[in-house]
Amino acid sequence: MTLVAQKSLFLLLVSIIAVFGDFEDSITFTAFTKDGDNFVSTFDDNLTERGCNSSEKVAVVVHGWGESMETNWVNDLIKNLREYRGGCIIFMDYSNHSIDRDYFNLVRKFGPISSVLIRKLDQLNNQGFDDKNMFMYGFSFGAQLSIYAGMSFGKNRIAEMDLCDPAGPGFVLAFELRPTFAAKNVQCIHTSSAKGTMKRNCHQDWLMGKCGRSQDAAGIFPRGSHGLCPKFYNSAFTNNFYATENMYRCPSRRVAVNVPKNFKMGYMETRKNKVFGDLFSPTSECYPYNNLPAAGIDNRPGPFARMRRQRLTQELRRCEA
Ligand SMILES: *[C@@H]1O[C@H](CO)[C@@H](O)[C@H](O)[C@H]1NC(C)=O
Ligand SMILES: *[C@@H]1O[C@H](CO)[C@@H](O)[C@H](O)[C@H]1NC(C)=O
Ligand SMILES: *[C@@H]1O[C@H](CO)[C@@H](O)[C@H](O)[C@H]1NC(C)=O
Repeated sequence: MTLVAQKSLFLLLVSIIAVFGDFEDSITFTAFTKDGDNFVSTFDDNLTERGCNSSEKVAVVVHGWGESMETNWVNDLIKNLREYRGGCIIFMDYSNHSIDRDYFNLVRKFGPISSVLIRKLDQLNNQGFDDKNMFMYGFSFGAQLSIYAGMSFGKNRIAEMDLCDPAGPGFVLAFELRPTFAAKNVQCIHTSSAKGTMKRNCHQDWLMGKCGRSQDAAGIFPRGSHGLCPKFYNSAFTNNFYATENMYRCPSRRVAVNVPKNFKMGYMETRKNKVFGDLFSPTSECYPYNNLPAAGIDNRPGPFARMRRQRLTQELRRCEA
């Protein structure tokens, strides 16, 4: 198969499947208003009347494979966005499709699921929400959905998009998915080479931990290197994950230059439009997972060994919490 044929196969496949069913009834959008209420938002409702004011900010959050509104990071993220961003937050729940043991069944539904998301973005636009007030967050499969939906909504229309470890499997040949078109600024945070993509094609690509491939904090599912990404992102609302030198000598053809002092990963960084390319931020074993000097990870013998071992035990206990 030629490369061109491979390239078109991906979207051809998803568009064929798109005609097989209307996915709108099986996907739920829950809107969280700035007053702390929430409601299920249909395609017919007037969002302003229901408490999501179209003159204010809006954020759209998209989960990944196997996830739903019950997933831990989701509630933490909604809380963080309410506190640090404000406005309305719309959570897309496609768990009727994402809770499928076969990941590739979900990949086959990429087209119809993304169509529903595009329809929601169009609804926001029709109701007067301003592009400059639009933010999207997607994790894993949800990151790929966000890229496609953002591009379809309009090249570089959405103001900002933060994508956590965009899914790799099933998207290797999806050259049509161009993150730099999906929003004016797209920040990608990479934590895993097994489940996350190896593509580095966003405005900023954060290679977290060991080159964005693995994390010291990784444990058993769902806290693998991939599952840690939303945890890092939530942590970054209150803890700083600064850009550092490329200390693990990660391969990169586009190391970011002229990075401002204390430039950091996550929603809170306000100078994103000044930086393009790959960024590096080592992570640690325990919450808050950032690269500030971690206390107590030192098991050398010596006069203070006992104290250090105690601190290490405390540290490990803290990790388990
Ligand atoms: C799952 O699908 C059913 C039937 O279409 C629907 O009633 C339900 O609201 C859906 N659940 C979610 C979380 O969207
Ligand atoms: C929506 O927000 C605008 C600007 O903040 C304000 O003037 C207007 O009264 C608000 N509308 C509603 C229905 O709350
Ligand atoms: C939604 O309701 C508001 C307030 O009643 C109204 O001003 C606005 O035109 C409505 N929007 C749409 C798209 O119908």
